[in-house]
Parts: sequence; structure tokens; C-alpha cells
Amino acid sequence: MLAVLSHVNAPKLQKPQRTQGGGGGEASSNLAETNYIPFSDGTIHYLGQHIAVVVADTLEHAVRGAALVRVTYDPKPAKTSLDEHRASAKEKGTQQSPASFAKGDADAAFASAPLKVDQIYRTPYEHHNPMEAHGLIASWEGDYLTLYDSSQNIFSVRRTISQMFGVPPENIHVLSQYIGGAFGSKGSVWPHVVIGVMAAREVKRPVKLMVTRKQLFFTNGHRPATEQRVALGANADGKLVSIIHEGFGQSNNVCTFVEAFTASTKVIYDSPNMRGVHRGVDLDLPSGTYMRAPGDSTGMFALDSAMDELAYTAKIDPLQLRLINHADRDPLTGKEWSSKSLKECYAQAAERFGWSRRTPEPRSMRDGRDLIGCGMASANRPSHRAPASARALMRSDGTVLIRSGSHDMGMGTLTVMTQLAAETLDVPIERVRMELGDTNLPQTPIAAGSMTAASVGSAVFGAATELRKKIAALDGVDPATLDPATYTAVLRRHYLNEIEVQFNAKPPEEDPYSSHAFGAHFVEVAVDADIPVVRVRRVVSAFAGGRILNAKTARSQGLGGIVWGIGMALLEQTHLDTKLGSFTNVNFGEYLVPVNPDIRQLEVILVEENDPHVNPIGVKGIGEVSMVGVAGAIANAVFHATGKRVRELPITVEKLL
Ligand code: MOS
Repeated sequence: MLAVLSHVNAPKLQKPQRTQGGGGGEASSNLAETNYIPFSDGTIHYLGQHIAVVVADTLEHAVRGAALVRVTYDPKPAKTSLDEHRASAKEKGTQQSPASFAKGDADAAFASAPLKVDQIYRTPYEHHNPMEAHGLIASWEGDYLTLYDSSQNIFSVRRTISQMFGVPPENIHVLSQYIGGAFGSKGSVWPHVVIGVMAAREVKRPVKLMVTRKQLFFTNGHRPATEQRVALGANADGKLVSIIHEGFGQSNNVCTFVEAFTASTKVIYDSPNMRGVHRGVDLDLPSGTYMRAPGDSTGMFALDSAMDELAYTAKIDPLQLRLINHADRDPLTGKEWSSKSLKECYAQAAERFGWSRRTPEPRSMRDGRDLIGCGMASANRPSHRAPASARALMRSDGTVLIRSGSHDMGMGTLTVMTQLAAETLDVPIERVRMELGDTNLPQTPIAAGSMTAASVGSAVFGAATELRKKIAALDGVDPATLDPATYTAVLRRHYLNEIEVQFNAKPPEEDPYSSHAFGAHFVEVAVDADIPVVRVRRVVSAFAGGRILNAKTARSQGLGGIVWGIGMALLEQTHLDTKLGSFTNVNFGEYLVPVNPDIRQLEVILVEENDPHVNPIGVKGIGEVSMVGVAGAIANAVFHATGKRVRELPITVEKLL
């Protein structure tokens, strides 16, 4: 055994500060946003908190050592139930979504509306569970640290570790080149990173630390459970006069994260009166965090379920109801959209799906023993962008190297950035290579919030454009005339082995436009008439996210989002034992996600948009929009099939019996 570290003997660390402005796209539940420093005192905030680390020369020795550690506890009562502690809910916001918004007088308009829906919807705890668990290798040489971390936010890791350990950021080299899934769980600097770095410093040897699958259910974030009220008031013709969306989700006193489920409500449907608020109930449970389409996927399940209920109340086709309430401008800010093709998404997906063949009455469609139902929902996701930098280098043999911090977690960053650089420079794609995932490369934001293509893409596009200009300027020629042969000729003529530029891309301070990706889902379910197992037979979805850089990777993002939405609707939930304050189904056997037989026919339609306003490359981001709305569309299809409205996810057999 090399060391046993806990609050008893751990070195004192500094609390990291959140950088003000310019940091762009930083995740919450970063240690900079918490009241908690690992091993700083003997307080245990939640079950699963790391309280000690054993370092040994082999995994077996470390595991044996950990088994020998004796811990004595001084128990105190814990708050673990969202339901029991609802009265303590406090307004909580995030950087992107403040706690509340309001326009007009939503309560008065609701009270006098001819048509009303007022319901409570619930979503469960969920965990990301990337196949590649969180883990790191930390190696100090004196005051210099090399840190291999499975992270989607390396620059934040570098800054946080720098501040906590009191070493300059330039001494810290963080690498995260290939990531086996993240989904938001790797956007924060979690305690195990600090513990691993601390351990390596103490034992003066490189340390490898892996978080086990079971630990992942407690220490690296989750989607908090929510309870949401949606109240919709409408005129007899279906036009909304009021939208109210309020409720709460689990939070804790360790970090600031809250599930911001009203974000989509501000933009998706037009109404003269609207208000929303999300609150957090601080429980003695692990910290929640961003998880695939955070806020929007949970919030839109509630809102689009309520819209479906309104459609039946008003006896208006659900698609028609969405069209009646289409927002021609951003409904809250009044801004013009930078571009919007939601109507085209509705039309193309409805046509392809055959929506017009649906008979409106619930339980009116059958196929043998199966009750058939068709449901639909809308999707939206804001088009964020953060400052990002990239370098483009051309060698005299005509090959190109693009370098930018960034990350590829499987969404195709390497592919689309290489492609974008090749197109911008007019060179064959085989000659372009990209390096990323390294803090020695130009700085980029967290890879999250569906903003990597837009942010890093703007930087890569800028760098490639400037490189082209710089090479053209050598010979005083028009950049447009350059091609693979002339590039090489120019560089050789000027005795240059290589030439490089860096480009720092920044979004404007003030944006006169509102930018969002939109989409629509149409779902067909079959529900066995006796044992009501829900099967999703078909999903047709259309998405509009500005310019599509690569139809294959974009389609894959679409499919991935739909599959995730199917899991959210029918399978995913982490059970909480409120007596123990512990999640219980903390393994892949009991935490259910869709497998191949759960996924039937999925179709993704990409509606290409020409958006001259959103950013220099016209890309809005399509990573997460595809997941938003799927659960609502499925719940609506289940109602159409069975006549039973399930307002609590997931929609399991027992809820339909
Ligand atoms: Mo994500 S939750 O934007 O990685």
C-alpha cells in the first residue's frame, strides 16, 4: 500500500473560482460551483460520496487496502424524498435558463380561458452511464502535471486543478483525445479527478483511478427527478391564451445544478401570456448535472403531453393545434428567428409518416391483438455558441493540419471539422488531419449543449479562410484561385516548409436574432390489449438545424436522440430508496436502456436551412434537438392507442394496467 488519504490527512486545497465572462459553455456542478472540496472535512453530504482513497501498486492491493479501512459515522437525519420536502422548494436557475420568466398575466388569462388543461407530470431520476466509465491517469513531475482525463471539458479541468492545487495553468497538461461517451456527465470536474491528482502528488508516482460502474451511479451526476405543473388556457379555436409551467426537481446543498425544464416553454408555442419557474428541493442526495438535452427533454415531455390533452379537449388534431400556435417570432423576447423551418418539419414528417390516416378517437386503431396509437410532438433546442480557437497549418507537400482543443465523444467532430477545413481550403479531405482533446491546442469551450459544430466550426472555418488568404498574399493572387497544386507551388517558391494561422472565433455580444434548432416527431406504438407492453413500431422525425455539415453524422445524431427518447419514455429510471438515501438499481442489469429488439423503424428527415445570421457557417447544432419531444410523442401515442394518459415516466406496464 502506498497511501491512504482522507479528510484526516489530505493536503488542504483551495476553492476554485468560476471565471467571469468569456469562459463560455462551462458546466455547472463543477467544483467551482460547489460548497464542497474533496477530503476537506468529515461531513458526508450524500450516500456514495468519496471519503477516502487507497493507493497501491496493483489494483488488487488497493481493493484489499480499501476493505481494511474502518470508518466510524455519526449519523444525522437526512432529507431524501422529493415528495416529502416539496415545501422547501426554492427558485433555482442555471447560466442558460434563469429560474423564472413571465409575459403578460398568465394566471388571469388561464382563469378566464374557455378551454383548460391543468395537470402534473413527473420524470424520474436517470443516469448517463457512458460505456467508458470516468477515469484518469495523473502524473506529476515536480510542479508539472500531465492528466489524462475522460472529460468533455479539458480547459475547465486545467483551470480548476490549477486553482485548487495552486500551480499555474501552463504547468498542467490535460488530454482527452477519445471519449467513450459522456452525454453531459463528463462536463464537470468531479471529486474523483481532484482525488486522483491529489493521490499522485502525495505518492510521487503516476496514479490511475477508475470510477466503478456502481460508483458512477452516485458520484458523477444524474438527471434529477422532477414534478411539473403545466396549465394551458385556450380559446375555443385552440389558440393559446396562457401557458403556465412550474415545478421542482431534486437539487442538493453541494452544487447549484437544477433541471431547467421551462427552457423550451419560452420558445416553442406562441401565447400572449406565459410564465414559468423551476425550483430545486435540496436533498441529501448526490448532485444532479446536465444529461442529454437537459431541461428540454423533461420539460417538453410535460408541455407536449399537455398540448395533446388540449387537442382532445378542443377536438382539434394535435398537429393542427401546433400549427395554430406556431410562434412566428420568439414568443418571449419578440425577436425574429435567425431562421425557422418548424412548419416544414411538421409537414415533411407528417407526410412521410402518413399522419392523415390516423383516426382521431382513442382506441380506434387496431392490428390483431394490438391497440395502435399515433402521437406527435415538437422539438427545439437553443443554438448556443461560445468562443473557440483553431489553428490551420499547411505544409509544402500540400497536407493540412487542423488543431483545436475540443473533443470528439462520438458525435463526429473529427469528421465534420476535417471536412469543413477541406472544403474551405479546396483540398482533398485525405490531405487534412485534425488534432483535438489537448490543452496544448487552442482553447475551446466544453463540448456540450449541441454547440461544438457551431463554436469549433466557426474557428476552423475562420482559420482555414485566413490560411488561404495568407498563402494567396505571398504571391499577391486572389485566394479563390488557389488549388492543391498552386498551394504547393506558392509555398515552395517562398522556401516555406509550412505556414500556419490561428483564428479566434467569438460570438457577438448582443444577438438581434433568436436562434434555435427545431424538429417534429411522429410515433406509432402498438400496445398489447391484454398485457399492455408498449412497443414503438415507427418513428419519423424531421429536424432543421441550419446547415448540415455531414448528412451521415447528422442522421446518426438524430437516430441516437430518438433511441434515447424511446428509453426515456419506456425504460429509463433510477430507483431511489428514500430510507437509505440510495439509488438501488445501480448496474446495467437493472437500469434499463433500449436494446436492439426495442428499436424498430426509425426515419430521420433533415430539413436543410440557409441561416445567414446564426454564425459564419450557418450551423445551429443538432446534437440534442432529436431527443427533445420523443417521450411526449410516445406518451401521446400511448394515449391514442389505449385511452389512458400516463403523466409519469417511464410508461411501464403497471401504469397502463
Ligand atoms: Mo451535453 S448534456 O450537452 O453533453
